[in-house]
Amino acid sequence: MTDQELLDLARKAAEAAYVPYSHFPVGAALECADGTVFTGCNVENAAYGDTICAERTAAVKAVSEGHRDFKRIAIWGDSREYCYPCGSCRQVLQEFNKYMTVICGRGDGSWTVNCLADMMPFFFDF
Ligand code: THU
Repeated sequence: MTDQELLDLARKAAEAAYVPYSHFPVGAALECADGTVFTGCNVENAAYGDTICAERTAAVKAVSEGHRDFKRIAIWGDSREYCYPCGSCRQVLQEFNKYMTVICGRGDGSWTVNCLADMMPFFFDF
């Protein structure tokens, strides 16, 4: 699957976003080593801090289905800036693969490609 195709799945996943507060849908498509793709969207809550980001939705879906071998993730938001993962999502993703590829898209259809280790060099561990 190309980066563009994975990003298209992320854009499609954003259609399910539950965003009554921010009105900012985000979609993620997480590809595992065997090629299985788990998608996710952001799910907001009236208690704002209980909101779950799209990337963590996809990550939790994958792990709960027995997939821990993360390979690539595409993230899409209809924003001016590239939709980079927040710090919490970077921390959660690195748990499963510090060197996974992170594709970040934005509203004009362009995207960036980075290694998670470059985006999150000093992750928490013990
Ligand atoms: N959001 C994500 O889904 N992923 C991120 O990495 C950052 C932010 C969501 C959370 C909230 O629903 C909306 O974007 C605005 O912050």
